[in-house]
Amino acid sequence: MLEIKNLKKNFGDKKVLKGINLKVNEGDIIGIIGPSGCGKSTLLRCINLLEKPTEGAIIYKGDDLVDNKNLNITRRKIGMVFQQFNLFNNMTVLENITLAPTLLNVMSKEEATKEALRLLSKIDLKDKANFYPSELSGGQKQRVAIVRTLIMKPEIILFDEPTSALDPEMIGEVTNLMRKIAENGMTMLIVSHEMNFIKNFCTRVIFMSEGHIIEEGSSKDIFDNPKNDKLISFLSKIKNI
Ligand SMILES: Nc1ncnc2c1ncn2[C@@H]1O[C@H](COP(=O)(O)OP(=O)(O)OP(=O)(O)O)[C@@H](O)[C@H]1O
Ligand SMILES: [Mg+2]
Repeated sequence: MLEIKNLKKNFGDKKVLKGINLKVNEGDIIGIIGPSGCGKSTLLRCINLLEKPTEGAIIYKGDDLVDNKNLNITRRKIGMVFQQFNLFNNMTVLENITLAPTLLNVMSKEEATKEALRLLSKIDLKDKANFYPSELSGGQKQRVAIVRTLIMKPEIILFDEPTSALDPEMIGEVTNLMRKIAENGMTMLIVSHEMNFIKNFCTRVIFMSEGHIIEEGSSKDIFDNPKNDKLISFLSKIKNI
């Protein structure tokens, strides 16, 4: 459903993505791992057009997203969840969730409110609808951020380190929600430093180094039978996998 072809991204003279090729099929849960600074976030941000690629194509169901006229389709069909939640602190939970669907005329205010409350009740946060983000725990904020993405009925969700800003006891509530979303068939790309989560959850894992994908395979291939020296060295520095 998504094909990334020779994607390059430069920031000034700095080459950050150096020719990424990746095919994503419907229902894939792809884990993206690699050392800090190798370009993982930049890759997700390019797919969602938060950054404009320098070169290459991102083909989504036959359309090249790099072509600006597709920006609205991209924003609607490809959701993103950030490490720092990125909720608007001056808006309530309900306002945060209903903002995009009403602004983009996907739903009326009434429909969006009804759907937001339905989604919030599924994650036991309906009673927090009129709270502000500052009144929520980190795990609650991230679950609200995920619901804010879900209300747009995305076909792909990009997660950039969704649990790394959370206290350990709150990681489970977020990964459990991600599991439920995956069980419903969602396609996901997940950047995470939680190797156990990536290992157990993802159907496919890619290892990035210095702007390239240098190894790709099943979770078993990557974690139990790594081939590239850089991947072997990366994994050896992480304990308890
Ligand atoms: N807006 C920007 N302007 C200039 N340089 C940038 C910008 N965004 C990212 N970079 C640089 O691009 C490189 C890759 O950054 P990126 O955030 O994609 O890495 P990452 O793999 O997500 O790292 P981490 O695991 O630490 O999150 C880094 O050297 C970073 O400094
Ligand atoms: Mg990053």
